Amino acid sequence: MAAYIRALPKAELHLHIEGSLEPGMLLALAEKHGIELPYDSEAALQEAYSFTQLQDFLDIYFKGAGVLLDADDFYQLTRAYLERVHADGVVHCEIFFDPQTHTDRGVPFATVMDGISRALKDGERDLGISSRLILSFLRHLSEADAEKTLDEALPYRGEIAAVGLDSSEHGQPPEKFSRVFARARSEGFLTVAHAGEEGPPEYIRQALDDLKVVRIDHGVRCEEDLDLCRRLASEKIPLTVCPLSNTKLAVFDRMESHNLKRLMDMGLVITINSDDPAYFGGYVGANYRAVAEALSLDYDDIRALARNSITASFLPEDQKKAWLECIDAVARPD
Ligand code: HPA
Ligand code: ZN
Repeated sequence: MAAYIRALPKAELHLHIEGSLEPGMLLALAEKHGIELPYDSEAALQEAYSFTQLQDFLDIYFKGAGVLLDADDFYQLTRAYLERVHADGVVHCEIFFDPQTHTDRGVPFATVMDGISRALKDGERDLGISSRLILSFLRHLSEADAEKTLDEALPYRGEIAAVGLDSSEHGQPPEKFSRVFARARSEGFLTVAHAGEEGPPEYIRQALDDLKVVRIDHGVRCEEDLDLCRRLASEKIPLTVCPLSNTKLAVFDRMESHNLKRLMDMGLVITINSDDPAYFGGYVGANYRAVAEALSLDYDDIRALARNSITASFLPEDQKKAWLECIDAVARPD
């Protein structure tokens, strides 16, 4: 199964570039910039990556991102991610970045964009991986802050495909961002949002109705509301599910309890993604392998997940069709 997973062309649709900052690079960038950290080794960082809920992770993720200062840092970070997922058979990726995490520390929006965009262009040339960028607003900050961030993004409209919503979910309903999302749509951005990871099914409804999202990030708590599941299935709204993230953040107590196969069986469009691979113990290939094993998925399930990753992407229809044909042509070992 591992060879089949590797061979399938796949898209990754839920990846926070700041969450791909591996301990080795984190320590090297801290040294480069003379930043003191409370951790002096990769092992000490790995040991700190033990979370019981989303907020535990976010606290350490925002601190880690503090070593990203110049455009070359963002370039290296993005390049390393692309090389890593190239080895997993990823052919297309849609990457979140959190500009407020950087602009609030005095790093200019242009610096972030410059490093990430150059790496994505070089990655397409050198590795053949196509990409889209998704600007994610931090939902624990105000809508006014998000409005300012959207203003800064307007000159980069050609390089940013969509806006999203991430960070602490509890007490931060999608509805709080209705106006900035409406303006983003009127400026030509697609919209997505994290919802139903820790938050209730009602947040998924708000993301659909108030933010008009075309995908839900995580969304696994939809299972508590059968009408909502039926709606997600009939409207073919994809969920970007992140299994290793969900077990690391205790959304599910163990992988065997994950609900993604049940959601697939209800007709939902489920995709497999890594979220923050440097913090959650694996890239997209490891996520596929973990669910294949824990949920006893067969070759048809895995092929359906790879097909969904392409169908749910922002690629043009002709490219989707070409990748789907490639997926169907991958030989199975049986
Ligand atoms: N949830 C919310 N915010 C995030 C996540 C996540 O899984 N990863 C990075 N920011
Ligand atoms: Zn996420």
